[in-house]
Amino acid sequence: MSESITICNAEVVLPGGIQRTDVVVQDGRIAAIGSGLPDTGGVINAEGLTLLPGVIDPQVHFREPGATHKEDLHSGSMAAAAGGVTAFLDMPNNKPAVITRSRMAEKKARAAEQCVVHYGFFMGATPDNLEELNAVENVCGIKVFMGASTGDLLVDDPVALERIFANGTRLIAVHAEDETVMRDNQALLGEVQDIRAHPRIRDESAALRATKLATRLSLKHQRRLHVLHLTTEEECDLLRTLPAGHRISAEVCPQHFTLTAPECYERLGTRAQMNPPLRTQRHADALWAALKDGTLQCIATDHAPHTLEEKDQPYGKAPSGMPGVETSLPLLLDRASRGFCTLSEVARWMSETPARLYGIHNKGRIEVGYDADLVLVDPSLKKTVTNGELFTKSNWSPYHGMTLQGWPVRTFVLGETVFHNGEVNDQIRGQELQFSGV
Ligand code: DOR
Repeated sequence: MSESITICNAEVVLPGGIQRTDVVVQDGRIAAIGSGLPDTGGVINAEGLTLLPGVIDPQVHFREPGATHKEDLHSGSMAAAAGGVTAFLDMPNNKPAVITRSRMAEKKARAAEQCVVHYGFFMGATPDNLEELNAVENVCGIKVFMGASTGDLLVDDPVALERIFANGTRLIAVHAEDETVMRDNQALLGEVQDIRAHPRIRDESAALRATKLATRLSLKHQRRLHVLHLTTEEECDLLRTLPAGHRISAEVCPQHFTLTAPECYERLGTRAQMNPPLRTQRHADALWAALKDGTLQCIATDHAPHTLEEKDQPYGKAPSGMPGVETSLPLLLDRASRGFCTLSEVARWMSETPARLYGIHNKGRIEVGYDADLVLVDPSLKKTVTNGELFTKSNWSPYHGMTLQGWPVRTFVLGETVFHNGEVNDQIRGQELQFSGV
């Protein structure tokens, strides 16, 4: 851990507002905030830059074990660091899927060796691993695929699903797409090779039906529920009708409010294929409005890297998913630069709220005593996202060719610089996040 550094003259995004001030970091923690503090160590002049709490990305797929040719915990965490992300929550749809305590222990051991930022993991639900789900220690939650996606995890039997909601206390995060609706749609359309069929197979009613069922089970059993990557206006409306005292939260991915059908499919083909799918402008607008009004509380990327070779196969063969951990903060900073949101909102959606929702102690805010997981961004820096110039092993982005304003220039993990001047220090190691039961 670093001894002492003072980050001077940045616009600092504090919980109470934005203030030009200095931040002293000592032994990995924020030791003091204020102007004219005595120098006790190194000084970083951050004039013209903005200091935000490090981003916590609450949904990534780093592919280890089983598909490390696409990404591994080291490369994924490097991409995170370059994107201003100082902690991530990784999904269990690996090969083999992480559905037992021993597989979880193995994944945590791999992460400890390789991750340059902090990490936490979801445990995968199957129709019959309830005992493992409830016995595993220190995970961010239980991941339930209500509809099939990448990998072999699936709980589409309502009885098995209810058993999971009814037994146990830890947070359940659902991939909410109804398997029966999708199978019926697929049967109606037959074998299609046109990517534009994707949002018709995985249509709005599949998403709404699954989200309805999950929220109903959460309310019935008073179980903490998080709905992953929401994609429809109808689901937002449903969340707005929840009764007081509910224990339900929901997230949105930047790609679902920045890339829209049919343009994205015409331009990107199967590179735009993900589950749940990119939809029309109507949904994108509704998702943004729902984020702004608090119906959706946080932002995740669903970073799901596949190689370009895999992605560029015809529809039906191409896997679903796209990288995103490295571009989410620039996308939001760009929106802030155009006046759609404030930097305080960005910090709330991407740092403070993920920490709160998952009970991650001492992270997500710039406050004395909090961990010094920080990102300095240059709000006026313009850069073009370019395939081949990214840290993710998959090395492509659906935003290739897009110029964004506002980029991370320096990322700190417990006060240590992990990303600076376009380079990641791959010797830094993050820690396992600690989750207090929420
Ligand atoms: O598009 C997706 N890809 N959605 C998911 O739910 C899984 C992910 C993956 O792991 O590739």
